[in-house]
Amino acid sequence: MLRRVLLAASASQRIRQLTTTAPLARHVVRRFVAGESAADALSVAERLVAEGLSVSIDYLGEDTVDPEQAARVASEYVTLLELLAAAGLTVGGRAEVSVKPTAVGLGLPEHGEKTAAENLVRICRAAQAAGTTVTVDMEDHTRIDGTLRLVGELRADFPDLGCVIQSYLRRSPGDCQALAVAGSRVRLCKGAYRAPDGVALAARSEVDRSFARCMRILLDGPGYPMLATHDPRLVAIAKSRAATIGREPSSFEYQMLYGIRTDEQAALAAEGAQVRVYVPYGSDWYGYFMRRLAERPANLMFFLRALASLR
Ligand code: FDA
Repeated sequence: MLRRVLLAASASQRIRQLTTTAPLARHVVRRFVAGESAADALSVAERLVAEGLSVSIDYLGEDTVDPEQAARVASEYVTLLELLAAAGLTVGGRAEVSVKPTAVGLGLPEHGEKTAAENLVRICRAAQAAGTTVTVDMEDHTRIDGTLRLVGELRADFPDLGCVIQSYLRRSPGDCQALAVAGSRVRLCKGAYRAPDGVALAARSEVDRSFARCMRILLDGPGYPMLATHDPRLVAIAKSRAATIGREPSSFEYQMLYGIRTDEQAALAAEGAQVRVYVPYGSDWYGYFMRRLAERPANLMFFLRALASLR
């Protein structure tokens, strides 16, 4: 129930305005968001890479409504990739970028897919020049076919372009089968959006079982799985499956969000696993932040307590 309310709040313009204009909220947001500028993202990336982790940096913003804005988002990524390369962070793909398709134009009323493809090509070229990769995030269920089509087409020129599968969707084991091919980089997550019952699994236990099933398909296949979860049970299942089938630690990675289960991130890296931290930055942090609150009521309490203590 609380999750539904917070997810609805993430789409509400009025609540958005209240949260983004309350100066104290920014303090708490910093737990999950690197900052507002590319320089903030760079300094967080430098720290995490020095700690033996990899990063995927997301310039926050979704549902771009005009083509010029979509082009500006692509330019921001190009600049970011140049900065990361100049700082030596893209060597071996330690720092890559994650891009939301609607931020680069997928949701535009006219020529959305074409605009998103053109912008993604610019970002992929910049990543290639920097020696690193791009992963295309997955948004709500209405965008899945468009996003997978886009990634499928771009992979002809950029074979290491990554995509995301969300285990809460009924279709996802089938999508995993199709994507479990050599060279394919696939991030598996549970899914952070609302979807109708016919499309999504309702119970958390079902979503977890689906994650385990999708994970097995990806781990058993010849691609490069990117297992994005903080769930200790699913991480344990991943470890056990990888050991059983003899998967090398360098042939897959764990991914977690900036500011969440940081001890576990460090512990996995210390065991020799590859761990990538998803680092968001930018002034448009509201939707991302509300989704993190929705995942865990304790975060909401943390947020409210911090606001109260700062008064
Ligand atoms: P779950 O929510 O069941 O949490 C398991 C445990 O992890 C909790 O008990 C708690 O200990 C900890 N935890 C989880 N979330 C927390 C939080 N917010 N604060 C504090 N502790 C928390 N989604 C999507 O729809 N499209 C996408 O492209 C992506 N991309 C993505 C990249 C990466 C690297 C990650 C880690 C996640 C995503 N997600 C995503 C989000 C994902 O779908 C999901 O909403 C969150 O990861 C939470 O799910 P868990 O698997 O962590 O399990």
